[in-house]
Amino acid sequence: MRIALEPRSWRLQLWTWPEVERYLEHNKGVIVPLGSTEQHGPTGAIGTDALTADAVAQAVAERSHVVVAPPQAFGMAEHHLGFPGTISLQPSTLLALLRDVVVSLARHGFERVYVINGHGGNMATARAAFSEAYDRAASLGLASAPRLRCKLANWFLAPAVMGHARQLYGEREGQHATPSEIALTLHLHPDLARKLRPLPDPAPVGPIHGWEDFRRRYPDGRMGSDPSLATAAAGKELLERAATALGEDLQRFLQAP
Ligand code: NI
Repeated sequence: MRIALEPRSWRLQLWTWPEVERYLEHNKGVIVPLGSTEQHGPTGAIGTDALTADAVAQAVAERSHVVVAPPQAFGMAEHHLGFPGTISLQPSTLLALLRDVVVSLARHGFERVYVINGHGGNMATARAAFSEAYDRAASLGLASAPRLRCKLANWFLAPAVMGHARQLYGEREGQHATPSEIALTLHLHPDLARKLRPLPDPAPVGPIHGWEDFRRRYPDGRMGSDPSLATAAAGKELLERAATALGEDLQRFLQAP
């Protein structure tokens, strides 16, 4: 059921507490955008992962009428710390942060927490945080605890997104500072296109260890990618595909027992 009030925005930040209370009478779902603040090669914005996660979250919210929590812009980016501008949370910090976000929401009666993630480095920690949140919610005896469910949705791994990226960019999609994520930022902030330029062949995709090793293996920050292929038009299409795929996934998640 859709809520009675018609907020102009699905951003929790712009709501009042009575609006949240009324929303909870009809909907127990909430979207949490999760990003990272880290280098994206010599031509990509440091905020890429947070900008893209928030944009996908807003687009999903408009389709699904589910409220969106403030975006979490800092993620687990320890391996990117060799590049200026990167701001990282250690896994244990991110774990505690996400656990507390989920438990806060559960305390008010939210039962379905859908985390839209823009950064691969967050995945293991986010799942661990969900485990701690379930336990904490149960220990606190929260009424929502038995029905509390968290789900991690990585927009860039949605088959409709990956398939399109592969069609557009083939092997030059790479694994970090990819043309698909950069394209999405160009759609959101067209001025970023002025930073793009042709780049030499990237270092090939390989393992990820510590930040010193990362900078040695991937000297300009890219992993196998060619972000110069990115266009705002492709970003618009990728956003559309991500929002459709995750919107359908969210509906299933909200309705699952
Ligand atoms: Ni990224």
